[in-house]
Amino acid sequence: MKLVFIGDIVGKPGRRAVQEWAPKLRERYDGLDAIVANAENAAGGRGLTAKIAKEITSYGVDFMTTGNHVWDQKEFLTEIGSVPNVIRPYNVPPGTPGTGSAAFDTPTGKKLGVVNLAGSLFMNYSNPFPVAIPAVEAIGQQARIVIVDMHAEATSEKVAMGWHLDGIASLVVGTHTHVQTADETILPNGAAYITDLGMTGPHDSVIGVGKEMVVRKFLTQLPAKFEVATGDTLLCGVYVEIDERTRRATLIERLRLPCEDA
Ligand SMILES: [Fe+2]
Ligand SMILES: [Fe+2]
Repeated sequence: MKLVFIGDIVGKPGRRAVQEWAPKLRERYDGLDAIVANAENAAGGRGLTAKIAKEITSYGVDFMTTGNHVWDQKEFLTEIGSVPNVIRPYNVPPGTPGTGSAAFDTPTGKKLGVVNLAGSLFMNYSNPFPVAIPAVEAIGQQARIVIVDMHAEATSEKVAMGWHLDGIASLVVGTHTHVQTADETILPNGAAYITDLGMTGPHDSVIGVGKEMVVRKFLTQLPAKFEVATGDTLLCGVYVEIDERTRRATLIERLRLPCEDA
């Protein structure tokens, strides 16, 4: 199975980057089975809506994960149930709208399991470790290949989750920090891993937000309006190949692709 996993799409520049690159990635990687993306910041940098999920899907993204910003657009609480290709963090209280894992049909006719965990350090989700293996194994009943988005702040928690799921999931990617790490690897039991995919959006910024606004806020400690930046737009993520017979990853390549500025 050949997959691209795109890091946090931020606002309109991020969506333009996906629009520009999704078709080019399908050309570049012959037989690409699916494009997956974290879309927690796709709506103006804050959250996601059904309309924007549909827009991103129309550009060629097949499935979306989210994170701590999933409910920033309140309407998404009622919308998520009718959006078939978006999941939210798994380790949340019972009764939370949406689902934290799903087996999706790829455009190439395969089943892909996706689990969206969220971190407990600096993020207030319940401990993802006790539920991670059962979640992957449950969705593994419906899909031969299962991949995991571990949306978390702490590097240690993401690295530990990679080791915890090595041999259980075929790919574990970290998201949320918006800064790509250079540690992509295939772990000993076959899980491809990277601590953070990085951000798909404007990099002339502080993790997607206009840099002057963020610097001023740190300087003055006064409330400030944050807006998505413009300029130096990159699509960040990974390309991964997985052997469907063994469920082991055979290749992981980091993507950091320049875009026309939106
Ligand atoms: Fe994010
Ligand atoms: Fe996040």
